[in-house]
Amino acid sequence: MSDQSIFLCHKSDLQKTGAFGASLHMQKEGRQKALDIVIIDMTYNPANPQSDPCSHNHYKAFVNACPHLGMPLETFDHQFLDQTNPAILICSTHGARFQAQDGFCLSGPCKGSSLTPISLTFTEQSIFMKISDNTHPKH
Ligand code: FES
Repeated sequence: MSDQSIFLCHKSDLQKTGAFGASLHMQKEGRQKALDIVIIDMTYNPANPQSDPCSHNHYKAFVNACPHLGMPLETFDHQFLDQTNPAILICSTHGARFQAQDGFCLSGPCKGSSLTPISLTFTEQSIFMKISDNTHPKH
């Protein structure tokens, strides 16, 4: 199996809220499928919302679907993080709280479950999702 990648966002897209919601249309096993992804800057500080665009070690990404009912996590576009503790993602539907580091649910109706992680690759300014042979982006 070889790896390919698909563009998700520019690193600068995460500077305002510390996160970015990307929507992809994928083709998997002959069927089209929408895939929503949240990308997180683990160094985000709401008091000083600037990140180092040259470093890529601090980015995480997960499928944007709550393990409780599969709902998207955000209330408003790109608003995923607890602004008093940006190491936490909050599901806007029923308030489940997830560790941004690994997607583990700390509290809420799906406590103990986890968001689905996404593998990333990077260029100097951009973030990409690694995809496998049987998952192809649709343009
Ligand atoms: S859908 Fe996320 S907590 Fe219920």
